[in-house]
Amino acid sequence: MTIKKIGILTGGGDCPGLNSVIYGIMLKAYDAGVECVGILKGWKGLMENLTIPLKIAEHDDLHTIGGTILYTSRTNPFKGAKSKEEVAKFLVNKLDELGIDALIAIGGDDTLSVADAMCKYSKANVIGCPKTIDNDLQGTHYTFGFWSAVQLASNAMDNLTTTARSHQRVFVVEVMGRDAGFLTMYSGISAGADIILIPETPFDFQRDIVDVLRKRAKAGYKYHIIATSEGAYPKMESLERDFKTISKETIDKLPKDTYGNPLLAKLNMSKIIVDELNLRDDLKEVFHNNGVDFECRSVVLGHTMRAGTPNSFDRILGLRFGLAAMKLVLEGKFGNMVSLQGNKIETIPLSKGVKKKYITTDSDKMELRDLLVKIRYLSKQN
Ligand code: F6P
Repeated sequence: MTIKKIGILTGGGDCPGLNSVIYGIMLKAYDAGVECVGILKGWKGLMENLTIPLKIAEHDDLHTIGGTILYTSRTNPFKGAKSKEEVAKFLVNKLDELGIDALIAIGGDDTLSVADAMCKYSKANVIGCPKTIDNDLQGTHYTFGFWSAVQLASNAMDNLTTTARSHQRVFVVEVMGRDAGFLTMYSGISAGADIILIPETPFDFQRDIVDVLRKRAKAGYKYHIIATSEGAYPKMESLERDFKTISKETIDKLPKDTYGNPLLAKLNMSKIIVDELNLRDDLKEVFHNNGVDFECRSVVLGHTMRAGTPNSFDRILGLRFGLAAMKLVLEGKFGNMVSLQGNKIETIPLSKGVKKKYITTDSDKMELRDLLVKIRYLSKQN
């Protein structure tokens, strides 16, 4: 089949590098004489015929600009659907109506799961491109946007140390990442955070926070940065034993994700940690005995982590993904997505790529984190 017109859409949370992918696609499409159409607001735009023409002459250097010119949404047409075949057929018909021969969907697991289902249930001409600042997609070593977000969070923690030092405070910094701790782990290690909490390793409030702060205070440290993922949570025994401001019921009452898991990111973990620490008179006393009035504040980095321009790594990765995705379209290799393996762009089936990825306990990042936390106060005691 000769491809004359392609559609491009971006779904899920925005992310630095989305425009870089779009530009990479447009460069190759122009060269191949293929027309590009932007489908606005993710899958919602396909369902509602919201499109714009994408003319490369009007978008010089688009790869340098943050966000997405196509807008985005979290609409998932398959959510709650009785017949997946019918939804897939509906979406493929929409492409036909718009005269679109093939579609490139750029998004995270949710967006790509729609692309995958369209291929599975209706043999659609769709290619995927993995996106998320969280870097939690299997099948690709890195998603674009991740390193820009790591840099922003690392800079924020670096900067906070001057305030922490001036006021001799504890800062609990909440980093995005609902399910996986890549952002917190990488930015925390990069900035030298004193405690790093991630969803993959539920924490013990007494052992991993209170005791560490106590040991650090005794070793002479006057300020402390705790980096916590928005999705980090305590071990059940610690929750029951150590916490006064939340309980198991608090977690049970949380809204659930599509898999039925509680949305822990809704907890505001940094504030909970601050509230709990403020109740610990024993800890305050240790700080006081070491010349510091205990003061603790939370900072939620939130959407500032997705804001602004992509860094050079994400601009290049985005362009490479876009180029590779357009090549797959021209070769008719639908049902696949582009991915980064080492430093090579590879092709993998969409069904493989939509699965979630987590930091594993054998990761050297885990070891680095634990050494970073422990060795600083231990080495001062000798
Ligand atoms: O999935 C990317 C992400 O940035 C998560 O880290 C975060 O929990 C979520 O998006 C926030 O999404 P929203 O913009 O819908 O609040």
